[in-house]
Amino acid sequence: MNLVSIKDLTKQQIKEIYDLVPKYKTKDLIPELKNKYIGLIFEKPSTRTRISFEVGIQQLGAVPIELNEKQLQISRGETIKDTANIFNCYLDGLILRVKKHDTILEFTRYSKIPVINALSDKEHPCQIISDIWTIIESKKISLDEINKIKFVYIGDANNVSMSLIYISEILNMNSYFIIPKKFQPKEKFKENIVITDDIKAIKDSDIVYTDVWISMGQEKERKKRIKIFKPYQLNSELLALAKKDCIVMHCLPANRGLEIAEEVLDGKNSIVLKQAENRLYVQKALIVYLFKR
Ligand code: CP
Ligand code: NVA
Repeated sequence: MNLVSIKDLTKQQIKEIYDLVPKYKTKDLIPELKNKYIGLIFEKPSTRTRISFEVGIQQLGAVPIELNEKQLQISRGETIKDTANIFNCYLDGLILRVKKHDTILEFTRYSKIPVINALSDKEHPCQIISDIWTIIESKKISLDEINKIKFVYIGDANNVSMSLIYISEILNMNSYFIIPKKFQPKEKFKENIVITDDIKAIKDSDIVYTDVWISMGQEKERKKRIKIFKPYQLNSELLALAKKDCIVMHCLPANRGLEIAEEVLDGKNSIVLKQAENRLYVQKALIVYLFKR
């Protein structure tokens, strides 16, 4: 089974993945995927995703093989179709971080092995599947209780927030997305999703999540974006409107002093390091789940 979009999963499947997490919430070797070879292609930089997948794969007894795209014949024009057919001969799974979402879709057309999206311009499903687990762990609630809490995202409509919107639809979460008007997604969503440009929507939230204003590949828009997004900074003044025990999340890397103030990122409400650590555990459960389907 592939994971290209968070929409590939049902609530029941998310539950089944989460049921596996406690078993893999360890750094011990659980060699369930012994003799499996998993290729990783990163067209963009990565710290957390790359390391958590490489370490996690080894903790499952499998072998991660980082495939530098510049050293593959793809860089000289070999097609994705031909490359995917060759991968089918040697590999048992493929993890891809790509500039264009279509690249992953093209791989899925020819791959006979699970294909996992490790971030594209459209979505970041592995991040979000892990983050929802971190929320239920931190708030000590079950997945069925997630709609009882108020989730707020503040920032850009990017890969991370789009996956958050889609999972909010799947899980029927009570979710608010505070995004400047010009940057709001055009799609229509289920009625449990509120899209607004009003920063006061943060009021009484249980979770506030933010991400960068300038995603990888948008560096040329830096100046323009900073100007527009400035009023949307998650700082202590804004956070004071949220519940006292509100948790602060950020997928990282963060731009300290832009989308999030230093005092909030390092503050007592912030769970960003736990959030990053959990990616190792949840992704192991995810890989095992996808490989067994
Ligand atoms: N959150 C995340 O995906 O981080 P990296 O870009 O470092 O992998
Ligand atoms: N939205 C960010 C996420 C990084 C993990 C980006 O695409 O750069």
